[in-house]
Amino acid sequence: MKKLLLSATLACSLFAASDVYTDVVKPIFADESSTKSIGRLLPTNAVKITQESKDKVKITIRGYKNPTVNNVIYYSDSQRVIAAAFSKTANVQFNLVEKGKGGKWDKVEVSVYTTKGDFTSDLAPMFARADQMYKDNCGICHTAHATDHYKANQWPGLIKSMLSRTAIDKKDEWLITQYLQKHSSDVK
Ligand code: HEC
Repeated sequence: MKKLLLSATLACSLFAASDVYTDVVKPIFADESSTKSIGRLLPTNAVKITQESKDKVKITIRGYKNPTVNNVIYYSDSQRVIAAAFSKTANVQFNLVEKGKGGKWDKVEVSVYTTKGDFTSDLAPMFARADQMYKDNCGICHTAHATDHYKANQWPGLIKSMLSRTAIDKKDEWLITQYLQKHSSDVK
């Protein structure tokens, strides 16, 4: 009985109150019944689950909107660290949360759907796994560079040119990229 209660509490804790994260790339849908994805949620970005149905959850993604890019929510207010990207034709509604000051991007929020599962409230183990993977795979031919040796906007290009030399699983490419960008010299 006690055990049952505990697991019920755990399941509930994934709802609105706390942020949850995924370590995989998740498809995004415009509505609950849709089967055609309109975007992707990238690993290690906080979302809130606001509703749950049979096979989907409704999530709120908060982030920043670059005024020159209409289909991306960024993790930070001035670097290109993507939290979620949408197809150009998706026409997603970005709700303003807070106007950016001094040239920083506006804080925005979107409500969309994704598939159930793969979410946990603990971010640290995801970064730990990424860190290990980075050191194991990117420290073979040269020492793995300190993550803050580069700026957030530099890492995606560097990784892209190096990935083919490694055995990193395709499904982990975004996890590693996000890990490096979020521990870069100008995003920490
Ligand atoms: C098979 C060997 C090998 C592996 C594995 C490897 N690299 Fe490299 N890396 C190189 C070589 C050789 C260079 C020198 C420049 C070049 O050849 O592009 C380099 C250069 C770099 C540089 C410096 C680039 C610059 O412009 O100064 C970075 C950063 C880097 N690698 C990151 C990584 C990352 C991240 C990974 C893992 C995803 C990785 N490397 C895996 C061989 C490797």
